Amino acid sequence: MWPYPKVLAHRGAGTLAPENTMAAMRYGWEHGFAAVEFDVMLSKDQRPVVIHDEDFGRTVAGSGKVPGYDAAFIMQQDAGAWFSADYKGEPVPDYASVVNFCRSRGIWMNVEMKPAQGYERETGLVVAAETLQLFADLSPVDKQHLPLFSSFSRAALLAAHEVAPHIPRALLIREAGPDWKLHLQEVGACALHIRHDCLTRDLAAQVKDAGYGLFCYTVNSPERARELLSWGVDAFCTDRIDLIPADF
Ligand code: G3P
Ligand code: MG
Repeated sequence: MWPYPKVLAHRGAGTLAPENTMAAMRYGWEHGFAAVEFDVMLSKDQRPVVIHDEDFGRTVAGSGKVPGYDAAFIMQQDAGAWFSADYKGEPVPDYASVVNFCRSRGIWMNVEMKPAQGYERETGLVVAAETLQLFADLSPVDKQHLPLFSSFSRAALLAAHEVAPHIPRALLIREAGPDWKLHLQEVGACALHIRHDCLTRDLAAQVKDAGYGLFCYTVNSPERARELLSWGVDAFCTDRIDLIPADF
């Protein structure tokens, strides 16, 4: 039901390094994490880049939008200076670089498709197509080594299914509405990824009884992590890889 690791470093290394950069992937890895979540968005020229916000201004300077610029330009932006002077000049990586880094070290990946508004379907199609190429050497049944796609966008997940039906999908939600199971079925998801403070013990039991994997984001206290695991939660991502180690 959940053949993956239990603790994932959120955006590479959580809040310990600049999110969604190669430096973060390296930091997480050096601190024992062999499972990672990161966010993927399409540039104007439809290349997947690893970044969380659609709008510039937080992790990269300026006031543009990711879908407004080609990948070559986005990848020249400084995604480290906002975090600390030590990381000044750390670029926005493309999806392939992060996958290659992770694969060469045996790091398992939860690839969150994070479409810019209006690009939901394209994001699913392109990220899935590139994933097929990047993992072409693996057997379609090698679930433990293939990544897990997740998204808040059902359109992106459905598009990914069209292109790469054998790559598992998880539906990301904040709160669970009455149709949560219907939505999981609609996209053929194997797991529900829910905001941890929107999960109840009762809902956790319902999700597990229905046969789905159950993942929570983003859990930053060891006490809360223990509680969630006691409810049957399979896995979670954390920003505090210093407080919640990979072997938690
Ligand atoms: O995939 C879990 C989590 O990353 C979802 O929210 O906004 O941190 O990408 P966000
Ligand atoms: Mg994310």
